[in-house]
Amino acid sequence: MSTPDKKSTKGKYLELVGPEGLPRHVAVIMDGNGRWAEQRNKPRVVGHRAGVETVREMVRAAGELGIEVLTLFAFSSENWRRPQKEVGLLMELFMVALEREVKKLHHNNVKLRIIGDKRAFSEKIQKRIADAEFLTQNNNGLVLNIAANYGGKWDITQAVRKLAERVRQGDMLAEEITPESIAEELTTADLPEPDLFIRTGGEQRISNFMIWQLAYTELYFTPVLWPDFNRTEFEKALISFSKRQRRFGQTGKQVESQRNA
Ligand code: IPE
Ligand code: IPE
Ligand code: MG
Repeated sequence: MSTPDKKSTKGKYLELVGPEGLPRHVAVIMDGNGRWAEQRNKPRVVGHRAGVETVREMVRAAGELGIEVLTLFAFSSENWRRPQKEVGLLMELFMVALEREVKKLHHNNVKLRIIGDKRAFSEKIQKRIADAEFLTQNNNGLVLNIAANYGGKWDITQAVRKLAERVRQGDMLAEEITPESIAEELTTADLPEPDLFIRTGGEQRISNFMIWQLAYTELYFTPVLWPDFNRTEFEKALISFSKRQRRFGQTGKQVESQRNA
């Protein structure tokens, strides 16, 4: 079992980084809730509840650090395959969190968006989502995307379908379908692509998260289970990010000379 660094920080790592080394958009696969609970001989839902606490802490930290966009993977399009009871409990938790947290998020100037195929959720949840998005739509602080019933393949498919429909209507030519026009129809269209991806819980895979948007994202994997993830662990990821050279296909030398120009 991996234990997180317990030292408390007040941004001491980040002082070393400076704003230019900070990612604008951080995307996170919050994994390991179930194992965290199992290690304590508790039902898996206890881990999911503990995970909600970590979400709170991360949202606060991201806002304080000046990160523009935080995207959290809460429920994948594949998670419906879990035992019905776990799915039900996760939905309930989602509902309760929406009810309890939205006012506070709004107060903190957070713009909340739920990305994913929302049609699969109950009417009640869909209404809560719409109300929360409406309430916070004009906030200009942290953009918080919660990916729920989200799949990267679904995101690309729904985008391409919209373009295909335009072609069918005669408003667009097939040749006009480009990476840019597809990107404009993704659920994250108006946002910068993630600079940093974090996956907790030790698995090193993407699990159908934002596969298009992650094309050039820096990947960071940690064995720390999501309920144990905290601000110190988050800052470790940010430090790791700040030390990387993003080349986007160029050579290291080219990137160096552009930086010095
Ligand atoms: C991530 O934790 C939360 C969701 C997928 C909803 P898991 O529930 O996948 O936890 P592990 O991977 O089984 O430990
Ligand atoms: C990915 O975690 C989805 C979320 C964190 C919401 P999973 O635990 O479902 O991923 P796999 O199935 O192990 O790849
Ligand atoms: Mg998991």
